[in-house]
Amino acid sequence: MVKICCIGAGYVGGPTMAVIALKCPEIEVAVVDISVSRINAWNSDALPIYEPGLDDVVKQCRGKNLFFSTDVEKHVSEANIVFVSVNTPTKTQGLGAGKAADLTYWESAARMIADVSKSDKIVVEKSTVPVKTAEAIEKILTHNSKGINFQILSNPEFLAEGTAIEDLFQPDRVLIGGRETPEGQKAIEALRDVYAHWVPVDRIICTNLWSAELSKLAANAFLAQRISSVNAMSALCEATGADVSQVSHAVGKDTRIGPKFLNASVGFGGSCFQKDILNLVYICECNGLPEVANYWKQVIKVNDYQKTRFVNRIVSSMFNTVSGKKIAILGFAFKKDTGDTRETPAIDVCKGLLGDKARLSIYDPQVNEEQIQRDLSMKKFDWDHPLHLQPMSPSSIKQVSVVWDAYAATKDAHGICILTEWDEFKTLDYQKIYDNMRKPAFVFDGRNIADVAKLREIGFIVYSIGKPLDPWLKDMPAVA
Ligand code: NAI
Repeated sequence: MVKICCIGAGYVGGPTMAVIALKCPEIEVAVVDISVSRINAWNSDALPIYEPGLDDVVKQCRGKNLFFSTDVEKHVSEANIVFVSVNTPTKTQGLGAGKAADLTYWESAARMIADVSKSDKIVVEKSTVPVKTAEAIEKILTHNSKGINFQILSNPEFLAEGTAIEDLFQPDRVLIGGRETPEGQKAIEALRDVYAHWVPVDRIICTNLWSAELSKLAANAFLAQRISSVNAMSALCEATGADVSQVSHAVGKDTRIGPKFLNASVGFGGSCFQKDILNLVYICECNGLPEVANYWKQVIKVNDYQKTRFVNRIVSSMFNTVSGKKIAILGFAFKKDTGDTRETPAIDVCKGLLGDKARLSIYDPQVNEEQIQRDLSMKKFDWDHPLHLQPMSPSSIKQVSVVWDAYAATKDAHGICILTEWDEFKTLDYQKIYDNMRKPAFVFDGRNIADVAKLREIGFIVYSIGKPLDPWLKDMPAVA
């Protein structure tokens, strides 16, 4: 029987392994983690992450051929294939701080694999890693191998949070990179056989190791670049009276460009885009390619600009101060259908408003108070470490209250910021909300989901990203 072990029971390790277990009933899959609370949650009815369809998949296989455990060494030593899906945060100190990937967790996982292994293994990079990481891992494993043969594969994950299960069931492609030696090719085939249980073979792309590693960074950079491109246009639309939705519709009709990922917003977030681009920038710099590095750096700069611009719009339209004013924040997750708040633009927007002394009342259907308080007081990049190594729960910021209802959040507020595109925000009773707010009442729609005409009819002053400006806002420019 083939045994798979995955080190790291996070947003990637949990769902990917659950789907492998479901689709390959004859394979035993163990997902292991050093975080006891995370493993306990995976073994409970309240899974540690919210992802549509995940509960159902886990329920079908858990206890049959899918196991969650903290006994890392036992499961690694028994496995034929070991996936490594641990955190790869941005370094905060030392060489490459603020850009390079911190491979501490990866390295300790690799050393542990070498220590406990008694039989040959295929080690699969599932985490997103810098190009040439496989070489470093190979060195660690072979120098500590006691004669055991390790084959390293790169199998980056392309799932998107919020649609992870759908993406895993029907991936656009599965990418497997390996050494171009007979042993390397044999390892690729073994992993291809796993995916071939449900993925058509023409969607399984096999490459060399470095192409696979770089393709993941490149894919995320291209995706983020589209968002920054449309967001850059949104600023120009506001200045000229063009409508960004009309522009992106017209642009996206070109089949060479395509319509996806062209929605203007308050900015991209999530655990990967910024981290992976910073990593790409660092690799370019290390390879003596400053022009290429600067090109990609700009994608992040535009994203930061978009968040600052949004905050400035709010403050300038409210007579240049939000001090002491209650602002309702609708949505905190980095996108809808996930409870994930890592690098969510809501953090920077809230911090910007708090910097101007606003009082915030926050509501998100999937994010709890502890998480929000933690996010608003944590230092940049600290979030991307295993839970038990993160700073302890901080004392809460007293200007921030977290409520479990959009109506409570907006009561007596001067303004509303929509920061996540949750469907329920489209169908709120905005008349009722307006009646309970201070006047003039503002809506700042960071996701372009509100029915602007209807809101204006009710009496709101509305700002939608990249849309023709409300006359009120025209006289109050948002330039810092
Ligand atoms: P995560 O933070 O949710 O999960 C990582 C887990 O690894 C944590 O539970 C942590 O406790 C555990 N861990 C760390 N070191 C360990 C060790 N030595 N032994 C056992 N467990 C250990 O992270 P997530 O989101 O699952 O990401 C993992 C990797 O996948 C990252 O490199 C990320 O860039 C990449 N990725 C993430 C995607 C996403 O949508 N979240 C999509 C594609 C790739």
